[in-house]
Amino acid sequence: MQVIKGFSKLNKTEKIEALKRFVPLNDLQTSILKFFNNNPTDYESIIENLSENYISNYVLPFSIAPNFKINDKWYFVPMVTEESSVVAAAASSAKFWCEHGGFKSEIIGTKKIGQIYFSWKGNIEKLQNKFSQLKEKLLLCTKKLTSGMEKRGGGITGIILNKENKRKNDYYIVDVEFETADSMGANFINSCLEVMGTELTLFIKNNFGENEGEAEIIMAILSNLTPDCLVESMVDCDINELSEISGNLSPEQFSSKFSMAVQIAHENVSRAVTHNKGIFNGIDAVLLATANDFRAVEACGHAYAARNGKYSALTDMEISNNRFRYKLRMPLSLGTVGGATSVHPLARTALQIMHNPSALELMQIVASVGLASNFAAIRSLITDGIQKGHMRLHLTNTLARRREIK
Ligand code: MEV
Repeated sequence: MQVIKGFSKLNKTEKIEALKRFVPLNDLQTSILKFFNNNPTDYESIIENLSENYISNYVLPFSIAPNFKINDKWYFVPMVTEESSVVAAAASSAKFWCEHGGFKSEIIGTKKIGQIYFSWKGNIEKLQNKFSQLKEKLLLCTKKLTSGMEKRGGGITGIILNKENKRKNDYYIVDVEFETADSMGANFINSCLEVMGTELTLFIKNNFGENEGEAEIIMAILSNLTPDCLVESMVDCDINELSEISGNLSPEQFSSKFSMAVQIAHENVSRAVTHNKGIFNGIDAVLLATANDFRAVEACGHAYAARNGKYSALTDMEISNNRFRYKLRMPLSLGTVGGATSVHPLARTALQIMHNPSALELMQIVASVGLASNFAAIRSLITDGIQKGHMRLHLTNTLARRREIK
C-alpha cells in the first residue's frame, strides 16, 4: 500500500481507474461502479456534492410500508433498508394496528443542547456571580444567527454554567439549550456555540484579574444526547383482539408471553440490545429514506436506553382491565428542512409521500414505525420463531442474489 496524493482532484472515472491500480477490482466490479454512477441528470451532481471522493452511488431499496394510522392520520411510510424482512414486518404491524385503534403518538419535548468546554484557572463561583451578564452577551453575539431561527419558532432557550467539573478546577462547561423548529439543527447549534465561545473568552479577559488567567476554549459542539427531545408512541387494544395474530396461542397466552419477552429485555442486557435493534430496524429505515442523521439517533437512543445506569429495553408493556398496551418512548432529534433532507431528491420525495410532515410529526411517525417493527419481531419470536417468519424472506432474497451474481 502507498499514500495516494490528489485523489480528490480526479473526476469519478479517473478515481475508479486510480483505485484499480491499488486494489483488485475485476471488470464486472468496475462496470458495477460505473453502472450505478451512470446517471447524467441534475440529480447526479446533487448526490455527488453530498460527500467527498465520490466514485459511484450505493443503491438500496426504497420501499413503502402502507397502512400506518398515527393519531388518526394515514401514512404510506418510505423505508430504505438492506434487510428484506424489515419492511414486511413494519407493514404487518401497521396493518394489524390500523384496524385496532392505530398508533397514538405524543411529543414530550423538543429541547436540544450544545456545550462549550473551556479551561480556566479562575474561580467558578466568581464566574457564576457574573453569569447573568455573560448570558446577555452570549445571547447578543448570536443575534445574527438566531433571528431567522426565532422567526421559525426556535432559538436559544437557556444558558447554564454546568458545574459538574467544579472539583477538578481544570475545565468547565457551559450548556446551551436550543429549539430548532423543523431542522435537526446541528449546523445552527454549532455555529452559535463557536461564536459564543469567542465571546466567552473575551468576557473572562475583560472581567477577571490577570492572576486568574485567560479562558481557552477546548471545543464547542452540540450534544447528540437529547433526552428532552422525546417522543412516545403507543398502541392499545382489548386482549381478545390479539386472536387475529396470536397463532397457536390464545390471546391471553400471547399477551402474557409478550409481556415476559419485554420483561426479559428489561432485565437482561444481551436481550435488550437485540430488542432495541429491532426497534432501530424500522427507525433507521425511515431516517435513511428522509436523509436524517441515523448515527446521531442511534447513539442517543442507546445512551437513553442506559439512562438508569443499566442498558435496558426502550419499550414498556402494560396489561390491565383486559387491555394490551405497548409503548415506545425515546429521544428522536430529526429534521424535515436543512441538510441532506432538503437536497436529496429521494429524501424530498419521501417527505412528500408522508404529506410533508413537520419535524414533530416526523418524530411521531418514526417512533410509531420503531414500535411497529419491534411489535412484529416479538410477535414472531413468541409464536412461530424468527426463522420461519421474519428471516425467511431475508434468506430467500440473499440466496437469490448470490445465485444471480455467480
Ligand atoms: C432482526 O433484524 C431483529 C430481531 O432480532 C429483533 C428482536 O429479536 O427483537 C428480530
